[in-house]
Amino acid sequence: MNKQAIFETYNLNGLQLSNRLVMAPMTRSRSTNPETTATELTALYYKQRATAGLIITEGTFVSQDAVGVMNVPAIYTKQHIEGWKLTTEAVHQAGGKIVAQLWHTGSYSHPDLLEGKLPLSASAINPNLQVFTTEGFKGSVTPKAMALEDIKKRIADFKQGAVNAFEVGFDGVELHGANGYLLQQFFSKNSNNRTDEYGGSVENRARILFDILDELKQVVDIAKVSVRFNPSLHGIMGILVDDETIAVYDYIVNRLNEYGLAYIHLVEPFTDVSNNPNAIQEVAKHFRKIYKGTIIINRGFNKETATKVLNDGDADLVSFGTPFLANPDLVERFKTDTPLNQPDQATFYTAGEKGYTDYPTIG
Ligand SMILES: Cc1cc2nc3c(=O)[nH]c(=O)nc-3n(C[C@H](O)[C@H](O)[C@H](O)COP(=O)(O)O)c2cc1C
Repeated sequence: MNKQAIFETYNLNGLQLSNRLVMAPMTRSRSTNPETTATELTALYYKQRATAGLIITEGTFVSQDAVGVMNVPAIYTKQHIEGWKLTTEAVHQAGGKIVAQLWHTGSYSHPDLLEGKLPLSASAINPNLQVFTTEGFKGSVTPKAMALEDIKKRIADFKQGAVNAFEVGFDGVELHGANGYLLQQFFSKNSNNRTDEYGGSVENRARILFDILDELKQVVDIAKVSVRFNPSLHGIMGILVDDETIAVYDYIVNRLNEYGLAYIHLVEPFTDVSNNPNAIQEVAKHFRKIYKGTIIINRGFNKETATKVLNDGDADLVSFGTPFLANPDLVERFKTDTPLNQPDQATFYTAGEKGYTDYPTIG
């Protein structure tokens, strides 16, 4: 057992990471300004965490109709680009590396957040979720099933989002293919009943992802692009595991071998799926057999389990969400076996510095 495995450097397609500990993407809803730009406060938050081997930003919206959560810094206007530059400059100055997570929420939105328009999705299926709006939580609505033209436009939005991210100075982009948002709404049977080339077969339900990647590689370095998946998501966030879930993800991940991406970012099951024969129980182990490139694994890891997953060879990097949220100096704390601050859930999505930039460090 190599006890130092999490502290070893890693060459991520040419990007030199100082350790194997990654900060997972986390929405923090601090952009309370009218344009929803990232600010000096956003920059400070990420800079405080720059000793992570790699930071993945909170999901950032690639267009106005991608919005499904309030006060999230977006990446589709000039001001958004300028706002995010504060963050990339601060993180780079502190010696860190940072990629942007590109996000479209699809049906996980509400007309109140979309200037009265219906959310978009693969099909007109209400995910039956509670969406936080300016007037508090409201039930989700039946989204508009995207026409082929709508799909083309959103593919172009992801492409532009990636271009914008590289203009900002990010070290890469991660497409948000997880947690029940637009891309996963295409992948899953329960949210996609299309009968055209984006629905029905495994290949068709996966098509939008490859369309995006094929567009992206025309304009950005595909070796700096990555995707996040949550293949065993079940019963929450509008997604159900089905009898072709494993086939869909096996197909996707196998095909991604041809793309030379920076990494795939996988999430272990969010809920107990141990009695579900259609669910992958051990996500990293399962996909390690299929994927030849870098795997980041996430969910519920601590120092010991992260060390083990690297030693077992099931992943190359481990991402931490809430531990990084509450411990800007997580790497130092792991090195010195210092107890961790506990995350304060009440301030996960509230405005201002409290629960954001005021978690104490050891020093
Ligand atoms: C406050 C909060 C916001 C999150 N926002 C995102 C997000 O924007 N994109 C995403 O892919 N996952 C998001 N997640 C999920 C985390 O990336 C991660 O999967 C989850 O926290 C489990 O990892 P952990 O056990 O290390 O905390 C969020 C989680 C939390 C706690």
